[in-house]
Amino acid sequence: MDYFMVVISVLATLILPTSWGSQLPNFILLFADDLGFGDLGSYGHPSSETPNLDKLAAEGLRFTDFYSTSPVCSPSRAALLTGRYQTRSGVYPGVFYPGSRGGLPLNETTIAEVLKPLGYATAMVGKWHLGVGKDRMYLPTRQGFDHYLGVPYSHDQGPCHNLTCFPPNIKCFGYCDVGVVTVPLMANETIKQQPVSFPDLEEKYRDFATQFISSSARRTQPFFLYYPSHYAGLGAAGRSLRGRFGDALMEFDSTVGALIQALQDSGVHNNTFIFFTADNGPELMRRARGGNSGLLKCGKGTTYDGGMREPTIAYWPGRIRPGVTHELSSTLDVLPTIAAMAGATLPRVPLDGVDMRDILFSHGPSKRKAIFYYPTDPSEKYGLFAVRVGKYKAHYYTRGAAHSDTTPDQDCHMISFLKAHDPPLLFDLEADPAENYNLATPDHPEYRPVLELIEAQKVQFERGMVFGQSQVAKGSDPTLQPCCNPDCTPKPTCCTCS
Ligand SMILES: *[C@@H]1O[C@H](CO)[C@@H](O)[C@H](O)[C@H]1NC(C)=O
Ligand SMILES: *[C@@H]1O[C@H](CO)[C@@H](O)[C@H](O)[C@H]1NC(C)=O
Ligand SMILES: *[C@@H]1O[C@H](CO)[C@@H](O)[C@H](O)[C@H]1NC(C)=O
Ligand SMILES: *[C@@H]1O[C@H](CO)[C@@H](O)[C@H](O)[C@H]1NC(C)=O
Repeated sequence: MDYFMVVISVLATLILPTSWGSQLPNFILLFADDLGFGDLGSYGHPSSETPNLDKLAAEGLRFTDFYSTSPVCSPSRAALLTGRYQTRSGVYPGVFYPGSRGGLPLNETTIAEVLKPLGYATAMVGKWHLGVGKDRMYLPTRQGFDHYLGVPYSHDQGPCHNLTCFPPNIKCFGYCDVGVVTVPLMANETIKQQPVSFPDLEEKYRDFATQFISSSARRTQPFFLYYPSHYAGLGAAGRSLRGRFGDALMEFDSTVGALIQALQDSGVHNNTFIFFTADNGPELMRRARGGNSGLLKCGKGTTYDGGMREPTIAYWPGRIRPGVTHELSSTLDVLPTIAAMAGATLPRVPLDGVDMRDILFSHGPSKRKAIFYYPTDPSEKYGLFAVRVGKYKAHYYTRGAAHSDTTPDQDCHMISFLKAHDPPLLFDLEADPAENYNLATPDHPEYRPVLELIEAQKVQFERGMVFGQSQVAKGSDPTLQPCCNPDCTPKPTCCTCS
């Protein structure tokens, strides 16, 4: 090698990292609330109108076998943001309440915290549901998000009786919590509005998200936008074929369209990875106003596939080839995948996720061999309720849930109490995705080796699972409920600001 070549190669090593540095990809993580496997047009729903999500599915990679880690909200979100089961972080049993003392522990590392050391701008818009706590210590601003606009928990965790949900003045329908403060809208750590105005919430979210994209792009700063939606704010009221749920979905879908437009207008469309999935299955108890799990069994609150298998899309023009993948994947895998794409350092803690880049970029095989199903209230006593290895799923325990009441299938209902299965129920999810036909019957001993294989995976997994202290079991304190007017009386009704 002559002197000239040496200089060139030294220059290349000096220059390349920086030029790659400025090419760090942007990330948009869209997380729908209570969305079932059968809810999108691209997943077969006949009357949903989701043209923007369907376009992402057509031009990106659509997953058929993607799972969340919990059939309810807070634990599922904790696992998505940390790449770790909720049992490790302590985000169980059930969900957080407005006055919860606990939250996602601050020593857990979120995707935002993984990206920040590389210079990412980070923002979250929408539903947090990982705690508020004393002095707002658990808000997203304390977990790596520079900017936050949203409701810190579920939109139905406050009295909604007299609130307008749909323009012009249609009152909210169904069950909301009473005896707590009305639902606040927060900007970073400040309450901006209480109660939040649902009819224009989606528009506020949309403006915030598109401005974050364009201002980050203008500064040529790589960005991470986490947008967990809740179906509220309904510019599409009455416009979809599918009633209220369809209207809300259509409104969310139009935000997705606005985000894509903002990426294109900012010239960063080709350098942005978009990932879409949902927290848990549909809330069937809301009847036609809830979601739909399609051909899967039951919905929210259960460890049947309808409770945890989610519509999922990965999109990156020019990088991800259009197609469909049947590989097993999980919300746990999002953090390791994003970290690998950005070249970020993984948190030095036991992670449960695997890198999905082979699936995304070469439609290759998953590094994940199994899906583990925890119930809403995981415990060391009962352990996993079900395990899927390859196409086979074994149920060790089954139980219905109030969230899945009302469909004709009794197994889904609250009155179907906990039932242990020994031998486990065994289903072939490729031949029988609806979990209708148990294979492990006495006249079919040929399935014993399959059960033994699944049992071995279960034993190995549970041996490595260390339960963190339950954050939800710390209970609630009414004085911790977010109140825009902290010294007012009588609480909670005086916590009102416009
Ligand atoms: C966070 O702190 C708690 C309490 O000290 C500890 O049990 C837990 O292992 C820590 N978690 C992580 C991810 O470091
Ligand atoms: C939120 O905090 C960020 C970072 O400190 C700041 O730039 C932004 O202006 C704040 N947003 C609001 C609405 O206060
Ligand atoms: C709803 O509004 C009516 C009339 O303003 C009031 O009398 C009633 O107490 C309110 N109900 C609740 C649950 O806030
Ligand atoms: C983005 O990628 C598409 C498809 O590969 C290509 O046609 C287009 O020219 C690219 N646009 C930019 C701005 O690079």
